[in-house]
Amino acid sequence: MFDYQGKYVVVVGGTSGINLCIAKAFAVAGAHVAVASRNPEKVAAAVALLNEANPQGQHLGLSFDVRDLPALEQGFAVLAQSFPHIDVLVSGAAGNFPASAAKLSANGFKSVMDIDLLGSFQVLKQAYPMLKRPGASIIQISAPQAYIAMPMQIHVCAAKAGVDMLTRTLALEWGPEGIRINSLVPGPIAGTEGFNRLAPSAQLQQQVAESVPLKRNGEGEDLANAALFMASPMASYITGTILPVDGGWSLGGASAAMSQLGALAAKQESSK
Ligand code: COA
Ligand code: NAP
Repeated sequence: MFDYQGKYVVVVGGTSGINLCIAKAFAVAGAHVAVASRNPEKVAAAVALLNEANPQGQHLGLSFDVRDLPALEQGFAVLAQSFPHIDVLVSGAAGNFPASAAKLSANGFKSVMDIDLLGSFQVLKQAYPMLKRPGASIIQISAPQAYIAMPMQIHVCAAKAGVDMLTRTLALEWGPEGIRINSLVPGPIAGTEGFNRLAPSAQLQQQVAESVPLKRNGEGEDLANAALFMASPMASYITGTILPVDGGWSLGGASAAMSQLGALAAKQESSK
């Protein structure tokens, strides 16, 4: 449905879960895709998948930690040797674990802030000189915790709220250059690390599905489809938005379900 033939797409944190699904969808739509994350084996496996999805594409794997600025700079220098510019940047590297504010160490809080918030800022800054202008599109992967408070998630709530404000601020700063930036907010996405960490059983995941108005947990493809639209000319007048892709979860069900998951995680933490 969307044609990304010859376009250059970079997905940071694109080697597993939702972001890998997004990377694959861009490859299938014809793009050259670069994926980046810490684990070189995950990077290699993701590139193999992209090569299978679109053998004509010039796909690239980069291995760096978004918290390591020199490594990030080096990664973008390597990228610039193969990609002339970036048409689409997806910034989605993130870390999550449940922990109460009382027990979470300063370093635990900092780790998530450094990956999700400072890491996103650094990724956006590194990509900025290479973004095609006019016409480039940035997609940030946010989370419901950005606007729904959740127990045991103070670090993630703070970091993802910040991610969405990066989106809104850069829409103002970079809009005049013809660069668009939007956040996609996944609801509960089946079969992913993020969801498994917060709802660690099939029974809990089924309960969450019941709290979604569309009565199912999401799939990576739901986010991939939204990303293909958001980066396309069909969305050329959309910037600075925070778009839930969540089956209506954020309209009501999310708040109660997230509180319940937080309470269960708190119980588990206190029994340790
Ligand atoms: N509860 C409380 N604190 C925790 C924790 C947990 N479950 N897991 C890690 N921390 C704390 C550590 O204790 C440490 O703090 P300390 O030095 O005061 O002890 C700090 O967080 C950093 O931990 P470390 O294991 O060194 O971090 P890392 O850099 O190796 O990994 C994480 C980063 C912790 C975010 C890790 O979970 C990760 O790599 N996540 C990526 C995958 C993921 O989360 N996917 C879902 C995306 S939504
Ligand atoms: P995931 O599979 O763990 O994806 C996280 C990706 O980020 C991986 O590729 C990981 O690879 C990379 N990464 C993590 N830390 C990094 C670092 N410091 N530097 C560079 N790369 C790093 O998790 P997911 O559940 O699919 O989540 C993907 C995104 O969706 C995240 O932004 C998350 O907050 C958001 N989200 C998920 C859900 C959900 O239901 N799953 C809901 C709402 C929002 P390495 O381990 O190799 O680094």
